[in-house]
Amino acid sequence: MDINLFKEELEELAKKAKHMLNETASKNDLEQVKVSLLGKKGLLTLQSKKIKEANKEDKPTIGQELNRVRSVIQTTIAEKEKEINDKILTEKIAKEAIDVTLPGNQIAIGHQHVITKVKEEIEDLFIGLGYQVIDGREVESDHYNFEMMNLPKDHPARDMQDTFYVTENELLRTQTSPMQARTLEVHDFTKGPLKMISPGRVFRRDSDDATHSHQFHQIEGLVVAENITMSDLKGTLDLFAKSLFGSDRKTRLRPSYFPFTEPSVEVDVSCFKCNGKGCRVCKQTGWIEILGSGMVHPNVLEMAGIDSEKYSGFAFGLGIDRIAMLKYGIDDIRHLYQNDIRFLKQF
Ligand code: PHE
Repeated sequence: MDINLFKEELEELAKKAKHMLNETASKNDLEQVKVSLLGKKGLLTLQSKKIKEANKEDKPTIGQELNRVRSVIQTTIAEKEKEINDKILTEKIAKEAIDVTLPGNQIAIGHQHVITKVKEEIEDLFIGLGYQVIDGREVESDHYNFEMMNLPKDHPARDMQDTFYVTENELLRTQTSPMQARTLEVHDFTKGPLKMISPGRVFRRDSDDATHSHQFHQIEGLVVAENITMSDLKGTLDLFAKSLFGSDRKTRLRPSYFPFTEPSVEVDVSCFKCNGKGCRVCKQTGWIEILGSGMVHPNVLEMAGIDSEKYSGFAFGLGIDRIAMLKYGIDDIRHLYQNDIRFLKQF
């Protein structure tokens, strides 16, 4: 084998390779050129097979030459590859460019419903006083909704609420009061007093008018421990009224009746609109009724397995809808449920 001829051929090959690589513009082209130079049947591969025919003393030179050309070709391929990739990336960036100066689509942001707002405001107050907030269920058993609240089967007070039955013994709860019985049954009094509120939706057979709806929201409250007295009830609810309607509000208790409290009271707050002089909001009385309350009836404690000689407590139940209406001057309860954005936006 003529070593000079071999060197010439190799030089030719190097030139040709350079030319071929210069011409490539795409990844596919490059792949093909790569194969045709370095592949199994590639030009350089064919050339390197000739080493077998060479003289022994020429072999190292031929080997060196082959390696040199191979490395030149590989470097050029790598450079070309980078060049192509850069080009692809630049084009991609140009194509996907976002014009940040274009005006965007306005996304309307919602906010809490006025009922949720008032509910959370009341929750915050009682959490601050060390109460737990406990969830109840909307489908309740006759047992908890009525029986455990001292309203046996034939009790006349059931009439006002006798209501939406799901099965013979289950109904959409008419009040959040069943949560009194449920928490009393499980509370461990060795660990401390029971102090809880339980908010939620309730349902009644009611006329739908400006102040009544067949569904509305209540918050139940219950405190039971040793030595809880009527003055605890009075102090707590007075604080509640002042925090919700303003620190210069006064409260008064009026005797009332609930089967599960004895004695029972209704709590009025002095009118925040006219300050007690008499106006449309308080129907000229100077007072607004805000909730029902009373000392927990011994029967309710005993039915839940609690010694009514040792423990006593007070309970209250308030209507969130009514409080929201008073607080924000809403004249029709149905506004709260009609989901008219123009109404809801105001709060
Ligand atoms: N559950 C009563 C109602 O719905 C309210 C209430 C609760 C009264 C707790 C006294 C004590 O009218």
